[in-house]
Amino acid sequence: MTVTIIVGTQWGDEGKGKITDLLSRDMDMVVRYQGGNNAGHTVVIKEDVFKLHLIPSGIFFANVQCVIGNGVVVDPAVLLGEIETLQTKGFAVNNLNISGQAHVIMPYHKDLDKAQEKRKEAGRIGTTCRGIGPCYVDKYSRYGIRIADLYNQNVFKSALAWNLEEKTFLLEKFYGMKVDYNVESIMEEYLGYAHAIKKYVVEESSSLVNNAIKKGKKLLLEGAQGTMLDVDHGTYPFVTSSNPVSSGACVGAGFSPKAVNDILGVVKAYVTRVGGGPFPTEIEGGVGDKLREWGHEYGATTGRPRRCGWFDGVVMSHAAKINGLTSLAVTKLDVLDKLERIKVCVAYEYQGKEIKDFPTEIYRLEQCKPVYVEMPGWQESIDKVTDYKYLPANAKKYLDKLAELAEAPISLISVGAERGQIIRI
Ligand code: IMP
Repeated sequence: MTVTIIVGTQWGDEGKGKITDLLSRDMDMVVRYQGGNNAGHTVVIKEDVFKLHLIPSGIFFANVQCVIGNGVVVDPAVLLGEIETLQTKGFAVNNLNISGQAHVIMPYHKDLDKAQEKRKEAGRIGTTCRGIGPCYVDKYSRYGIRIADLYNQNVFKSALAWNLEEKTFLLEKFYGMKVDYNVESIMEEYLGYAHAIKKYVVEESSSLVNNAIKKGKKLLLEGAQGTMLDVDHGTYPFVTSSNPVSSGACVGAGFSPKAVNDILGVVKAYVTRVGGGPFPTEIEGGVGDKLREWGHEYGATTGRPRRCGWFDGVVMSHAAKINGLTSLAVTKLDVLDKLERIKVCVAYEYQGKEIKDFPTEIYRLEQCKPVYVEMPGWQESIDKVTDYKYLPANAKKYLDKLAELAEAPISLISVGAERGQIIRI
């Protein structure tokens, strides 16, 4: 296998960071293809816990080239902070490449994100307020400022002035927010960032990626968020503003779908969601609270408590279909250790009928009730198991059920946050 895409199959936070880190040691290149610092990929190395928001999780291996692809939106201050943190911990970060075509998150994007969320009130998406959505809006409106533009002062200045005029009007007159943007001071700030990141910037990141593919190198495409947060295939409008699904990797890194060999779906053994929007198998209180406590389910980016629920087979088969999963990495199986009975949603009941296709219209989804099967728990600790044959029989049965619903085989099982807590099949 040379090109592998890692995708989240639920609402993000499936544990993609750990799986990417695990596979990265055998890779030549790791590429982030969408999203921005709304993501939070946690990698635990001995006593250090790294929460990477922008930099690909392959960065810990100096011989692995890491690329922030054209499809990513970059907050340069956050990026620099992340580089500094890694360097303080002894990682040189000489293996980082940033696409010149990636769009830049500007101060007005963050202000617009907050203002729009405030105005929505009851219908709030619960965004991370990092300016991700407004930055993508500018990209598609063709007003955006790209990393490469920061190195052309005339282009940067005129785009910035144009944007400041429009955003000031919008924020003040429409959203009632007082702002005081100044072209010169924002330019000075961002030119400082541009100078600091210059050594990492590559003009044609897609050439870098394609040359590696041509040479038969091993590439890992690291998705952020998850299928159910995809702007096209998720629970719209309660989604993010990019395409985390596998096909998004080709657009966000600039290579052909013909090159893809493996699509690995990262599947949490139960389901979580942070932010607003429908979540059919959510458990409010009781077991839901226990899963949050046992699984440390608090947002890596915002610290918000995550909503928790039972495994959802309808979501799983939707993700398997949209992404074309070839195998699965099941994470956090150990979090279920103490449960006596475990529910698995195998269908939804909609208007008196059982359905198995995920309804993407919110008004239909809201009328769906999960149809559960109950499975016996294993009630023993599995966090030290590293060989599949030593897993309790009931844990194996549970895994079989997940694979059956995904119609894909399981290749990895994570039983704890550390690198060594993994079972390879
Ligand atoms: P945005 O991406 O900040 O615009 O937020 C849109 C929705 O996606 C909100 O519900 C966020 O909580 C959710 N979201 C964004 N990034 C992540 C992530 O990395 N994990 C889980 N949820 C996320």
